[in-house]
Amino acid sequence: MAAAPASSELLRPVLPLPVAGARLRPFAPADAPALTRHANDWDIWRNLRDRFPHPYTLADAEWYVRFVNADGSRDLHLCIEVDGEAAGSISVLFQDDISRRSAEIGYWLGRVCWGRGIGTAAVEALSAYALTHFDLCRLYATVFEYNPASARVLEKAGFALEGRLRKSITKDGQTVDGLLYSLILNAELGMGG
Ligand SMILES: CC(C)(COP(=O)(O)OP(=O)(O)OC[C@H]1O[C@@H](n2cnc3c(N)ncnc32)[C@H](O)[C@@H]1OP(=O)(O)O)[C@@H](O)C(=O)NCCC(=O)NCCS
Repeated sequence: MAAAPASSELLRPVLPLPVAGARLRPFAPADAPALTRHANDWDIWRNLRDRFPHPYTLADAEWYVRFVNADGSRDLHLCIEVDGEAAGSISVLFQDDISRRSAEIGYWLGRVCWGRGIGTAAVEALSAYALTHFDLCRLYATVFEYNPASARVLEKAGFALEGRLRKSITKDGQTVDGLLYSLILNAELGMGG
Protein backbone atom coordinates (compact mmCIF):
# COMPACT_ATOMS: atom_id res chain seq x y z
CA MET A 1 0.00 0.00 0.00
CA ALA A 2 1.34 3.40 -0.95
CA ALA A 3 1.77 6.24 1.46
CA ALA A 4 -0.24 9.24 0.31
CA PRO A 5 0.61 10.98 -1.95
CA ALA A 6 1.59 8.14 -4.21
CA SER A 7 3.04 7.35 -7.58
CA SER A 8 1.36 8.94 -10.54
CA GLU A 9 -0.11 5.67 -11.88
CA LEU A 10 -2.10 5.11 -8.68
CA LEU A 11 -3.52 8.61 -9.15
CA ARG A 12 -4.88 7.74 -12.62
CA PRO A 13 -7.25 4.78 -12.26
CA VAL A 14 -10.24 3.97 -14.43
CA LEU A 15 -13.09 2.84 -12.16
CA PRO A 16 -16.35 1.32 -13.37
CA LEU A 17 -19.60 2.55 -11.81
CA PRO A 18 -22.77 0.46 -11.43
CA VAL A 19 -24.79 2.93 -13.52
CA ALA A 20 -25.09 2.37 -17.28
CA GLY A 21 -22.81 4.68 -19.26
CA ALA A 22 -20.96 6.05 -16.23
CA ARG A 23 -17.38 5.59 -15.06
CA LEU A 24 -14.51 7.45 -13.39
CA ARG A 25 -11.33 8.08 -15.36
CA PRO A 26 -8.47 10.59 -15.62
CA PHE A 27 -9.21 13.89 -17.36
CA ALA A 28 -8.00 14.56 -20.91
CA PRO A 29 -7.57 17.93 -22.68
CA ALA A 30 -10.53 17.11 -24.96
CA ASP A 31 -12.83 17.13 -21.88
CA ALA A 32 -12.65 20.92 -21.50
CA PRO A 33 -15.71 21.93 -23.60
CA ALA A 34 -18.08 19.40 -21.98
CA LEU A 35 -16.68 20.20 -18.56
CA THR A 36 -17.38 23.89 -19.16
CA ARG A 37 -20.96 23.23 -20.21
CA HIS A 38 -21.74 21.17 -17.08
CA ALA A 39 -19.75 23.29 -14.60
CA ASN A 40 -21.16 26.66 -15.60
CA ASP A 41 -24.10 26.40 -13.21
CA TRP A 42 -24.87 28.57 -10.19
CA ASP A 43 -26.47 25.62 -8.36
CA ILE A 44 -23.18 23.76 -8.54
CA TRP A 45 -21.03 26.79 -7.66
CA ARG A 46 -23.12 27.62 -4.57
CA ASN A 47 -22.29 24.23 -3.03
CA LEU A 48 -18.54 24.37 -3.63
CA ARG A 49 -15.57 26.43 -2.47
CA ASP A 50 -15.11 29.87 -4.01
CA ARG A 51 -12.03 28.68 -5.90
CA PHE A 52 -14.52 26.90 -8.22
CA PRO A 53 -15.19 29.75 -10.69
CA HIS A 54 -18.53 31.22 -11.71
CA PRO A 55 -19.17 31.87 -14.52
CA TYR A 56 -17.10 28.82 -15.53
CA THR A 57 -15.34 29.42 -18.84
CA LEU A 58 -13.53 27.20 -21.33
CA ALA A 59 -10.27 28.74 -20.09
CA ASP A 60 -11.17 27.63 -16.54
CA ALA A 61 -11.76 24.06 -17.74
CA GLU A 62 -8.55 24.02 -19.76
CA TRP A 63 -6.61 25.30 -16.72
CA TYR A 64 -8.21 22.64 -14.49
CA VAL A 65 -7.39 19.75 -16.83
CA ARG A 66 -3.77 20.97 -17.06
CA PHE A 67 -3.64 21.36 -13.27
CA VAL A 68 -4.88 17.86 -12.44
CA ASN A 69 -2.62 16.23 -15.04
CA ALA A 70 0.51 18.21 -14.13
CA ASP A 71 3.65 16.34 -13.16
CA GLY A 72 3.92 16.41 -9.42
CA SER A 73 0.16 16.54 -8.87
CA ARG A 74 -0.24 14.84 -5.49
CA ASP A 75 -4.01 14.35 -5.20
CA LEU A 76 -6.60 12.15 -6.91
CA HIS A 77 -8.77 14.05 -9.39
CA LEU A 78 -11.03 12.01 -11.67
CA CYS A 79 -13.53 12.83 -14.37
CA ILE A 80 -17.09 11.55 -13.89
CA GLU A 81 -17.80 10.40 -17.42
CA VAL A 82 -21.43 9.90 -18.44
CA ASP A 83 -22.37 8.61 -21.89
CA GLY A 84 -18.88 9.26 -23.22
CA GLU A 85 -18.44 12.84 -22.04
CA ALA A 86 -17.04 14.62 -19.00
CA ALA A 87 -20.05 15.45 -16.82
CA GLY A 88 -18.40 16.15 -13.48
CA SER A 89 -15.41 15.79 -11.24
CA ILE A 90 -14.50 13.95 -8.05
CA SER A 91 -11.36 14.41 -5.97
CA VAL A 92 -9.56 13.01 -2.97
CA LEU A 93 -7.26 15.59 -1.39
CA PHE A 94 -4.61 14.00 0.82
CA GLN A 95 -3.90 15.80 4.08
CA ASP A 96 -0.49 16.02 5.72
CA ASP A 97 1.36 16.21 9.03
CA ILE A 98 -0.76 14.71 11.83
CA SER A 99 -3.73 14.43 9.43
CA ARG A 100 -1.74 12.36 6.94
CA ARG A 101 -4.08 9.34 7.17
CA SER A 102 -7.07 11.56 6.32
CA ALA A 103 -8.27 12.82 2.97
CA GLU A 104 -11.08 15.14 1.89
CA ILE A 105 -13.44 13.96 -0.81
CA GLY A 106 -15.16 16.52 -3.05
CA TYR A 107 -17.38 16.16 -6.10
CA TRP A 108 -19.86 17.77 -8.46
CA LEU A 109 -21.98 16.50 -11.34
CA GLY A 110 -23.77 18.30 -14.18
CA ARG A 111 -27.45 18.83 -13.39
CA VAL A 112 -28.71 16.86 -16.42
CA CYS A 113 -27.25 13.77 -14.72
CA TRP A 114 -28.69 14.34 -11.24
CA GLY A 115 -31.01 11.81 -9.63
CA ARG A 116 -29.66 8.70 -11.38
CA GLY A 117 -27.45 7.49 -8.54
CA ILE A 118 -24.25 8.58 -10.28
CA GLY A 119 -23.08 10.89 -7.49
CA THR A 120 -23.46 8.14 -4.89
CA ALA A 121 -21.81 5.54 -7.12
CA ALA A 122 -18.87 7.87 -7.74
CA VAL A 123 -18.37 8.56 -4.02
CA GLU A 124 -18.64 4.85 -3.17
CA ALA A 125 -16.20 3.78 -5.89
CA LEU A 126 -13.57 6.41 -5.21
CA SER A 127 -13.82 5.96 -1.44
CA ALA A 128 -13.25 2.21 -1.77
CA TYR A 129 -10.34 2.79 -4.15
CA ALA A 130 -8.69 5.41 -1.95
CA LEU A 131 -9.02 3.39 1.26
CA THR A 132 -7.66 0.29 -0.47
CA HIS A 133 -4.70 1.77 -2.32
CA PHE A 134 -3.42 4.44 0.07
CA ASP A 135 -2.46 4.47 3.73
CA LEU A 136 -5.65 6.26 4.73
CA CYS A 137 -8.12 5.47 7.48
CA ARG A 138 -10.45 8.45 7.17
CA LEU A 139 -12.29 10.21 4.35
CA TYR A 140 -14.34 13.30 5.12
CA ALA A 141 -16.46 15.97 3.50
CA THR A 142 -18.13 19.13 4.73
CA VAL A 143 -21.59 19.76 3.27
CA PHE A 144 -23.15 23.22 3.39
CA GLU A 145 -26.26 23.06 5.57
CA TYR A 146 -28.59 23.88 2.65
CA ASN A 147 -27.42 20.93 0.50
CA PRO A 148 -29.55 17.87 1.41
CA ALA A 149 -28.70 16.09 -1.87
CA SER A 150 -25.01 15.91 -1.01
CA ALA A 151 -25.71 14.89 2.58
CA ARG A 152 -27.89 12.08 1.22
CA VAL A 153 -25.16 10.99 -1.20
CA LEU A 154 -22.68 10.69 1.64
CA GLU A 155 -25.13 8.82 3.86
CA LYS A 156 -25.94 6.38 1.05
CA ALA A 157 -22.19 5.88 0.53
CA GLY A 158 -21.73 4.90 4.18
CA PHE A 159 -20.46 8.18 5.63
CA ALA A 160 -21.65 9.18 9.11
CA LEU A 161 -22.51 12.65 10.32
CA GLU A 162 -19.86 13.66 12.87
CA GLY A 163 -21.00 17.11 13.69
CA ARG A 164 -22.33 20.49 12.76
CA LEU A 165 -19.58 23.08 12.32
CA ARG A 166 -21.58 26.12 13.31
CA LYS A 167 -21.24 29.17 11.04
CA SER A 168 -18.10 27.74 9.46
CA ILE A 169 -19.00 28.42 5.81
CA THR A 170 -19.31 31.83 4.18
CA LYS A 171 -20.71 31.49 0.68
CA ASP A 172 -22.61 33.83 -1.61
CA GLY A 173 -23.07 36.49 1.05
CA GLN A 174 -24.31 34.24 3.85
CA THR A 175 -22.60 32.43 6.70
CA VAL A 176 -24.02 28.97 7.36
CA ASP A 177 -23.25 25.76 9.20
CA GLY A 178 -21.17 22.95 7.70
CA LEU A 179 -22.13 19.32 8.19
CA LEU A 180 -19.02 17.20 8.72
CA TYR A 181 -19.32 13.64 7.39
CA SER A 182 -16.70 10.92 7.56
CA LEU A 183 -16.08 7.35 6.51
CA ILE A 184 -13.63 5.38 8.65
CA LEU A 185 -11.87 2.27 7.42
CA ASN A 186 -13.59 -0.69 9.12
CA ALA A 187 -10.36 -2.15 10.43
CA GLU A 188 -9.65 1.08 12.31
CA LEU A 189 -12.89 1.03 14.25
CA GLY A 190 -12.85 -0.63 17.66
CA MET A 191 -15.63 -2.99 18.75
CA GLY A 192 -18.92 -1.19 18.40
CA GLY A 193 -17.16 1.73 16.74
C1 LIG B 1 -24.54 16.30 -4.85
C2 LIG B 1 -24.63 15.73 -6.27
C3 LIG B 1 -23.24 15.27 -6.71
C4 LIG B 1 -25.59 14.54 -6.22
O1 LIG B 1 -25.49 13.83 -7.43
P1 LIG B 1 -26.63 12.79 -7.91
O2 LIG B 1 -26.05 11.94 -8.96
O3 LIG B 1 -27.89 13.52 -8.22
O4 LIG B 1 -26.83 11.94 -6.55
P2 LIG B 1 -27.64 10.59 -6.39
O5 LIG B 1 -28.62 10.45 -7.49
O6 LIG B 1 -26.66 9.50 -6.18
O7 LIG B 1 -28.40 10.81 -4.99
C5 LIG B 1 -29.03 12.03 -4.67
C6 LIG B 1 -29.92 11.81 -3.46
O8 LIG B 1 -30.26 13.10 -2.93
C7 LIG B 1 -31.66 13.17 -2.83
N1 LIG B 1 -32.04 14.57 -2.98
C8 LIG B 1 -31.90 15.34 -4.06
N2 LIG B 1 -32.37 16.57 -3.80
C9 LIG B 1 -32.81 16.55 -2.52
C10 LIG B 1 -33.43 17.52 -1.68
N3 LIG B 1 -33.66 18.77 -2.08
N4 LIG B 1 -33.75 17.14 -0.41
C11 LIG B 1 -33.50 15.90 0.02
N5 LIG B 1 -32.94 14.94 -0.74
C12 LIG B 1 -32.59 15.28 -2.00
C13 LIG B 1 -32.17 12.28 -3.94
O9 LIG B 1 -33.53 11.92 -3.74
C14 LIG B 1 -31.19 11.10 -3.79
O10 LIG B 1 -31.51 10.30 -2.68
P3 LIG B 1 -32.36 8.92 -2.82
O11 LIG B 1 -31.59 8.02 -3.71
O12 LIG B 1 -32.48 8.43 -1.41
O13 LIG B 1 -33.69 9.30 -3.43
C15 LIG B 1 -25.18 16.80 -7.26
O14 LIG B 1 -26.43 17.22 -6.82
C16 LIG B 1 -24.28 18.00 -7.40
O15 LIG B 1 -23.31 18.00 -8.14
N6 LIG B 1 -24.60 19.10 -6.66
C17 LIG B 1 -23.84 20.34 -6.75
C18 LIG B 1 -22.42 20.21 -6.21
C19 LIG B 1 -22.36 19.63 -4.81
O16 LIG B 1 -23.28 19.78 -4.02
N7 LIG B 1 -21.24 18.96 -4.49
C20 LIG B 1 -21.02 18.39 -3.19
C21 LIG B 1 -20.47 19.41 -2.26
S1 LIG B 1 -20.27 18.75 -0.59
